[in-house]
Amino acid sequence: MSDRKILVTSALPYANGPIHIGHMLEYIQTDTWVRFQKQRGHRCYLVCADDTHGTPIMLKADREGISPEQLIAQVGKEHLLDFTEFGIAFDNYHSTHSEENKLFSSLIYERLRDGGHISSRTITQAYDPVKAMFLPDRFIKGDCPNCGAAEQYGDGCEVCGATYSPTELKNAVSAISGEKPVEKDSVHYFFNLADFTEMLRAWTNAGHLQAEVRNKLAEWLEGGLQQWDISRDAPYFGFEIPDAPGKYFYVWLDAPIGYMASFKNLCTRQGLDFDEFWATGSDAELYHFIGKDIIYFHALFWPAMLSGADFRTPSAIFAHGFLTVNGEKMSKSRGTFIKARTYLDHLNPEYLRYYFAAKLSAGVDDIDLNFDDFSQRVNSDMVGKVVNIASRCSGFISKRFANVLSANCSEPALFQDFINANATIAEFYESREFGKAMREIMALADKANQYIDEKKPWLLAKEDGKDSELHEVCSMGLNLFRLLAAYLKPVTPALAKNAEHFLNSPIDGWVDQLQPLTGHTINDFSPLMTRVDADKIAVIIEASKENLEKTADKPKEKKFEPIAPVIELDDFARLDLRIAKIIKADHVEGADKLLQLTVDIGDETRNIFAGIKSAYAPEDLEGKLTLVIVNLAPRKMRFGLSEGMVLAAGPGGKDIWLLSPDEGAVPGMRVK
Ligand code: MSP
Ligand code: ZN
Repeated sequence: MSDRKILVTSALPYANGPIHIGHMLEYIQTDTWVRFQKQRGHRCYLVCADDTHGTPIMLKADREGISPEQLIAQVGKEHLLDFTEFGIAFDNYHSTHSEENKLFSSLIYERLRDGGHISSRTITQAYDPVKAMFLPDRFIKGDCPNCGAAEQYGDGCEVCGATYSPTELKNAVSAISGEKPVEKDSVHYFFNLADFTEMLRAWTNAGHLQAEVRNKLAEWLEGGLQQWDISRDAPYFGFEIPDAPGKYFYVWLDAPIGYMASFKNLCTRQGLDFDEFWATGSDAELYHFIGKDIIYFHALFWPAMLSGADFRTPSAIFAHGFLTVNGEKMSKSRGTFIKARTYLDHLNPEYLRYYFAAKLSAGVDDIDLNFDDFSQRVNSDMVGKVVNIASRCSGFISKRFANVLSANCSEPALFQDFINANATIAEFYESREFGKAMREIMALADKANQYIDEKKPWLLAKEDGKDSELHEVCSMGLNLFRLLAAYLKPVTPALAKNAEHFLNSPIDGWVDQLQPLTGHTINDFSPLMTRVDADKIAVIIEASKENLEKTADKPKEKKFEPIAPVIELDDFARLDLRIAKIIKADHVEGADKLLQLTVDIGDETRNIFAGIKSAYAPEDLEGKLTLVIVNLAPRKMRFGLSEGMVLAAGPGGKDIWLLSPDEGAVPGMRVK
């Protein structure tokens, strides 16, 4: 067809955690595009690897009492298994902790150094005196300098959203040892990114980037490029810098080089020519699929490193947006932080492949996985439209015609209509407008169903003398179904494979090369895709909540409610808060959550209904002191008048704590 040579990568997942469905958006997008290129007859390779270096991996191995090598070997296996079951067909899946990567990292570093693009100087950083190591920002915690929230990390506050440097944290401690960090000097190595300002300015405007990404880059270039710190001190799990003993390459230096290393490994195994793809001036195409969070590394550092080390630069960077679930960031407490494995345990991976394809475009907008929409789309499109064609026609072919298709194609014009759509659909796939491609394909599926609705094979089957028409209609239906399966092959390869078996004929190459099957024997039909079982979705969400308890090694999920709108001191002063003594507590007839309290606020007693029954029995409360807002407007409830409110904290259920003042407080005292 043509002699395009294409090398494609997906970002290398970190080896310190499992693959989740957010990751899968990227790997499914990449795999679909690569399968499309291969189906078109191009030479196309997809390589990836685990990203294995850095402090978090070193510490995680430490905690688990194994070596980093053992940890990455184990995680690497799990990642690859998840990918394989999702149908991601890597030509090679390697590791950044490999010989090839060590060689290329050293080579690129040395070439940059010899070109005068590396410098070194002493910097001061937080250091854990107990662990004897420098602390990355994420490993320092303390109180937020802005809102005072405790247990915040060195790079930003999860409660108020402030960002700051770790030295600004109050009461800072090392998250590893709990010790107070000290400041310590050390020599670091830097990549002089500014040397490449002109090169990058030209490169970013030469059609290698999406418009949104190009604009972002223009801003960064405008702001001036800083030196990039590429070294870390021992102990560090990574590669030692060749001419700087005790210093290691920062993980983000060797990570993208991992793309080359994985390809090199493939070249060795398959006898391919590495330079054909990577030498300066190569006529091969090179594409990196990435998430929008790592654009800086791929569109600035990476092309600069490559050009400074005399390798070719990427043909394009394809950035995508982030996956949200049911409209929100994936969250462990809501059960929407779904591991690839949890999904695979319960649902067909091709549901998700189709759903993502239907929602993907060439842009960087976030994509929402809404489970109602997911079920509805998969059921109505894939099951209700596509697979339905085959199930409507196959029964007659098997029962009445011994599984042999009619000797002719009865509607060549309709068949040709389906073929004629191929250029448009190919263009959408090529430009990563998968959502548009899916809409075109589903429009064809509608057309095929209309054809069957008009011909009504179920009526033909009952009439005398209509046998040959019945035969032709059902054969036509199956031929149209085959074209749909061929169009969908990059998205749902397993379904396509089953269709190939059912129709007893391979789908090789792009759709324009397919001819109608005539006089051809097929196999018995078995359901190619069943409807999404909504119960399974509930099970996945429940199972994902359980994961919560088991991931103690991750930075803490924030357990706080969002902060309410800011109020002025005056607003606060209007609250009349008093110490109160609970003199009587009773159950409330007919209320599951309420207790009725009689409280002494010094000069009077008040009747208060409090929703604390899940946490307290009445007898636990009598005699206790607590805080009450006494100037709250009385509220008429079904059970009587509530004249104030007691203050309590906690998420609910058993975890509610009535705020109680220290001993020595006296009912009626104002709280300031
Ligand atoms: N190790 C780096 C990449 C190095 S590439 C030389 C990394 N790893 S990651 O595991 O955090 O992410 C891998 C890829 O998955 C990234 O492209 C990232 O953007 C993508 N995604 C991670 N979470 C995602 C979503 N929730 N949604 C979509 N993509 C997401 O970054
Ligand atoms: Zn804060």
